[in-house]
Amino acid sequence: MSLIIDPGLFATHFNKRHFEIQHRLAAHPLFEIPRLLQLAREMAADRPGDIYYDAGVTNIGSRWGTSPAEFPVDQTIERLETAGAWIDLKAAERSAPYAQVLNNCISDLLQVSGRELERKMRRKEMAIFLTSPNRLSTYHMDSECNFLLQLRGEKNISIFPKDDREVLPEEEIERFWAADTNAAIYKPHLQHRASVIRLKPGTGVHIPVNAPHWVQNDNNISVTVAILYHSWHQEYLDLYAANYCLRKMRVSPKPPFQSRWRDSIKRPIGAAALRLLTLRRGGHLRDVAGNAAGVHDVSPP
Ligand SMILES: [Fe+2]
Repeated sequence: MSLIIDPGLFATHFNKRHFEIQHRLAAHPLFEIPRLLQLAREMAADRPGDIYYDAGVTNIGSRWGTSPAEFPVDQTIERLETAGAWIDLKAAERSAPYAQVLNNCISDLLQVSGRELERKMRRKEMAIFLTSPNRLSTYHMDSECNFLLQLRGEKNISIFPKDDREVLPEEEIERFWAADTNAAIYKPHLQHRASVIRLKPGTGVHIPVNAPHWVQNDNNISVTVAILYHSWHQEYLDLYAANYCLRKMRVSPKPPFQSRWRDSIKRPIGAAALRLLTLRRGGHLRDVAGNAAGVHDVSPP
C-alpha cells in the first residue's frame, strides 16, 4: 500500500476540506534526483510541453509563466541547490515506471473511497515537483482533485477554505473556469484564514478542487508528488462561463447551484460562450500560460 488515508476523515472531508494523509513513497528510487534528472531529459526530448519551470519567483501573488529559468531543465535540476527554481514534471505517468506508481496510489484511494469514485475520474495523472531551497510556489487553485505527497525536504503549505467568498470571490471562480487558470488573487490580509500544514517525507495532504493554496519551501531541496484526477465538471464550466459573460455585461449574476431553473436557463448560454472563448484561444479551454496545477488544461468533454 502506498497511500495511508483515514477512512473517517475521507468520509467527512473529501473534496470539501483539506486533510492530512501519509504515504510510503519517500524512499522510492524513482523519485531520487538522478532518476528524476533522467526523466526530465526524456521529457525534454519527447514532450517538452509537459515541463514547466521557472526561477527567482519571490512574490506569493506572481502569475505563472512570468519568470522563465535561465538554463535548460536538466541544467536547472543539476543547479537546484542555488537555482531558485520550481520545476513541474507533468504527466509523469506517460513514462511506464511512474504509471505503475500512479496506479497503485489510485488503487489505494479507491479502496478508501469505494469504486464509485472511479466513474468520476476523467483522467488520472502524476505531477512531480522539484523545488530549490527557500523557494515558494505561488498562490493558485486547481481544477483537479489533488493528493499531495512530500518525499524529500520539508515545507509549509497554506491551504484556504474553498467556500470562503472573501478569500475566493465568485468573480475569481468564474474567471478561473471560463478564462484563466491564474484567476485566484492572493490577499495577504486574509492569510490568517489559511491552515498551514507542515509537510515532511512520508506525509501529505488532500487539496480539494478550487481550494486556493501556496507553498513555502524550507532551506532544503524538496521533491513532492501530486496524485491528481480530473473529473467530469462540464456543469461547472457551463455555469461559471455563463456568469463570467453576464458579469462582463455588467450584470451581477447569482452564484450557480442555488436554483435549478436558473441554472437550466444559464447552462446553454454558458456552453455557447465557452465554445466561443475556446475558439478564440486557439482551442485552449483557458489561458494555460502557467497552468496552476502543473497539469494539462483539458477541453470540455
Ligand atoms: Fe496546486
